[in-house]
Amino acid sequence: MKSLEDAELEGKSVVLRTDLNLPVEDGEPQKTVRFERYIETVKELSDEGARTMVIAHQGRPARKDFMSLERHAELMSEELGQDVNFVRSFFGPELGDAVASMEDGDVVLLENIRFLSEELQNLPSERHSDDYFIENLSRYFDIFVDDAFSASHRSHGSIVGFVPRLESYAGPVMQRELENCGRVRDELDNPLLVLGGEKPSDLIGMMEQVIDRAEKVLLGGIPGELALKLQGNDLGGKSEWIEEQGFDGKSKELQRIIEEHEEKIVLPVDVRTDSGNHKIGEVPEGEMTWDIGEETRERFVEEIGDAESIVMKGPMGAFEDYPEGTRAVIDAIAENDGFTVLGGGHTSSLIHRFGHDLDEFTHVSIAGGAFVRYMSGEELPAVEALREYS
Ligand code: 3PG
Repeated sequence: MKSLEDAELEGKSVVLRTDLNLPVEDGEPQKTVRFERYIETVKELSDEGARTMVIAHQGRPARKDFMSLERHAELMSEELGQDVNFVRSFFGPELGDAVASMEDGDVVLLENIRFLSEELQNLPSERHSDDYFIENLSRYFDIFVDDAFSASHRSHGSIVGFVPRLESYAGPVMQRELENCGRVRDELDNPLLVLGGEKPSDLIGMMEQVIDRAEKVLLGGIPGELALKLQGNDLGGKSEWIEEQGFDGKSKELQRIIEEHEEKIVLPVDVRTDSGNHKIGEVPEGEMTWDIGEETRERFVEEIGDAESIVMKGPMGAFEDYPEGTRAVIDAIAENDGFTVLGGGHTSSLIHRFGHDLDEFTHVSIAGGAFVRYMSGEELPAVEALREYS
């Protein structure tokens, strides 16, 4: 796989696939670690004299955070200290003019690529390379740089489609993540896994792969609540919510893992709801659970304090309004001097918010689903495409 050091960039037109999928609060995308890392890549290309068109996505269709990247372009301009022209059109004169008017070092940002339905189909590289938008965009560019490690588990158009058509390179974020996550995957010894977030199905493969060599698994967030529900506990309004969201889909596998490794899995003993702290089994009818409870927090912090290596993926609860559980866990991991890894778009975005620096952890991955899949030993389509063609 070729890296940017192998590339001659000056005066070249470059398509850079990043992942600017950011947390959105009150309609405003938030600058996070992920954003900072991509700013560094864009800056590097610009300093080398490339003419860079950045491609990214935000959210998924029908989700609340599915929105235009216009604001992202403004945030990029602020951070880079240079104008980042926002291009709304994937075809036609607006696109052609924007590219034609670029000078060396210029940067433009293309509209949310997921506004194009072709983008979202999971197809092999060769199939996506025939998509009209890929063929059309490829005419304007010399080089493709794939830096979107956190989206590399998606075989989407702009992730795998340019590789057969353009001279292609892995970007610096992609390279560093592959190197560090590879090291974590291969060298991790007896880790304590701290797993939460809102996508239990993402975590099951990772638990299956790592649990034999894991010291313990602390389950918070929706995975912890799903596990509690599987054990027959009533979680008030959350029980119904879990069913409505379809999280029960993977429950058989989770149940099997819990039964086979009962001694390793630590589940919450209490939760935080609207009205306060409640022991499991005593959650008031109809109330929603939002975070792990106080006793669970103490137990998790104690386990983290004793661990020699830790991998955390996903917040412990709805951190926007109920940050205490997630904050306690991240604070405790930052205190730990062992081998500590944090993964996930949301998790990494909380580091600064909770007053920590990145260097308090051994590795911080800005990827969620891709991190988990890579840790589970799965091939990532974007990485396979780069290996084959670059
Ligand atoms: C992420 O934030 O994990 C990536 O941007 C991928 O997003 P997706 O799960 O919507 O494909």
